[in-house]
Formats: sequence, structure tokens, C-alpha cells
Amino acid sequence: MAYENIIVETRGPVGLIKLNRPQALNALNSALLGELNAALAAFDADGRIGAMVITGSEKAFAAGADIKEMQSLEFVDAYTKDFLGDWEKVTRIRKPIIAAVAGYALGGGCELAMMCDFIIAAKTAKFGQPEITLGVMPGMGGTQRLARFVGKAKAMDLCLTGRMMDAEEAERCGLVARVVPGQDLLEEAIQAAEKIASFSQPVVMMTKETVNRAYETTLAEGLRFERRLFHSMFALEDQKEGMAAFTGKRTPYFKNR
Ligand code: HXC
Repeated sequence: MAYENIIVETRGPVGLIKLNRPQALNALNSALLGELNAALAAFDADGRIGAMVITGSEKAFAAGADIKEMQSLEFVDAYTKDFLGDWEKVTRIRKPIIAAVAGYALGGGCELAMMCDFIIAAKTAKFGQPEITLGVMPGMGGTQRLARFVGKAKAMDLCLTGRMMDAEEAERCGLVARVVPGQDLLEEAIQAAEKIASFSQPVVMMTKETVNRAYETTLAEGLRFERRLFHSMFALEDQKEGMAAFTGKRTPYFKNR
């Protein structure tokens, strides 16, 4: 498929997607969303790919949903056509996705980064939910995922004042997994994705699914889900291989990757 708003590449077992609307600081319009969903689904279905990276430019991961596309939207269309509903597809991708964020990750951009499995940020990254300054509120998880990931205090602060936080603050409050110098961002994200891709794919997918459960259910249910999937791993050759390699003091070779 030919894409106009994203650049899609593979780096070995890693699927790399670069958001590419530089004239609009990668504002997320419906065309870009359609392409992103298609590219993610294609990588998810591709047996050679073990993990994905989504990135933007040096200046912007994404400066939000496209305000110009959204501004004349009416309630009846937003509601009946379930405006933004398709973004949820990102969260249904089963292989891990890393967001590599430099520059602005605002509004829908911050929300897209939060739909990924973890965020690696350049020192230049700026996160925020400035929707309130536009007369709306976040609509793709900014009030819900942000509150679960960083807690009520910061979520309220960001959503109610519209202020941005820098990479250091984002790491301190748990939004970001790692902060790296800008020039190392993509390499660091690709290396992390390569590492993930070197492990047993069913185990990687079950791990992602299980960590995500922590945000969807009670502790008791989450622990039960974890234990059942953990038990199921003993049916995998990869478990036998991983543990035999440890005891034999050699590097494991996971067949299902
Ligand atoms: C459409 C956008 C845009 C956006 C930037 N642009 N953000 N277009 N939607 N979200 C366009 C500008 O209009 C401009 O186009 C070009 O990108 C460069 O932007 P500038 O503003 O000139 O750049 P700069 O002065 O460096 O300021 C950067 C910025 C600012 C601070 C990031 O662009 C900004 O505040 N953007 C909006 C951020 C925002 O409010 N995001 C939330 C959106 S609502 P022209 O044609 O003038 O050169 C949202 C809703 C989510 O995300 C809820 C559901 C998804």
C-alpha cells in the first residue's frame, strides 16, 4: 500500500512507522489514522516482525488531532459516526509498539503515545493535553489513560491547565520509560524493539496482554489471569529452551519468534 502521511520501513524484525505531515507538525487527521491503522495491522500480521516503533520528527511526534479537520464537526456526526472510535484499533495490535517521542506530543499526539506499550522520549519531548484551550477536553484517553499512568494530581493539572511537561517531568511521573539524547532516540527505540523481537513471540504477546490487564480489571482478576497464562507457558517449547539454555550456560534460541 502506498502511504502519503506516514513512512513505513522495516529494520530486521522491527516495523518502523514515521508520522509524516511536517507542514502540520504531524497533526493526526483521518487519512493519517487510516494509514497508521493499516500499517500497524500489516506488521501485526507479518511473521517476520516482532515489535514496532512509531516515531515523528525532531520537532513533533504529533501536535494533536487535526484542529482544522475537526473545527466544523457537529455533534450529530461526531456521535453517530463515532468520531475517534477508530483510534482504539491501535490498542488492539497484539505485538508490542514503542513510541519514540521527540518534540511535541500534544492532545491526540500524547494520547497516541499512551496507546503504545511504552514511551522512549528525547530530552526535547513535550507532553500535554491542551484541548481545554480549544474549548474541548481530551477524547482519545487523555483523561483516562493519563490518570491511570501518572495519577490524578498530574492528570488534572495537565488536562485542566493545558500546560506542557518536559521529558524529565514525564519520566519522573511515570509517563515515560526512558529519556535519551535526541540523536540517540530512534536507535534506542529500535534496539529495544529488536530485543523484544528476539524473545518468544507468544510469551511477548501474553506479557503485553497481561500487563495491559492491570489497567482494565481488579487486582484479584489480574493476578488470576497472570497465573493462568503463566501456567500455559509450560506448554511452549520456548520455555523448555529458555530454561535449558540457562542451566546449560548458553544463549537460548527461541523457535517461536
Ligand atoms: C492542525 C496544526 C496543529 C493541529 C500545529 N498545526 N498543530 N494544524 N492541527 N493540532 C499547524 C499550524 O496550524 C501551522 O500551520 C503548522 O502546523 C506549524 O505550527 P505553528 O503553530 O506555526 O508552530 P509553532 O509556533 O512552533 O507552535 C507549535 C505548537 C502549536 C505549540 C505545537 O502548533 C500548537 O499549539 N498546536 C496545537 C496544539 C494543540 O492544541 N493540540 C491539541 C489538538 S486537539 P500553518 O498552516 O499555519 O503553517 C486534540 C484533540 C484530541 O488533539 C482529542 C481527540 C483526538
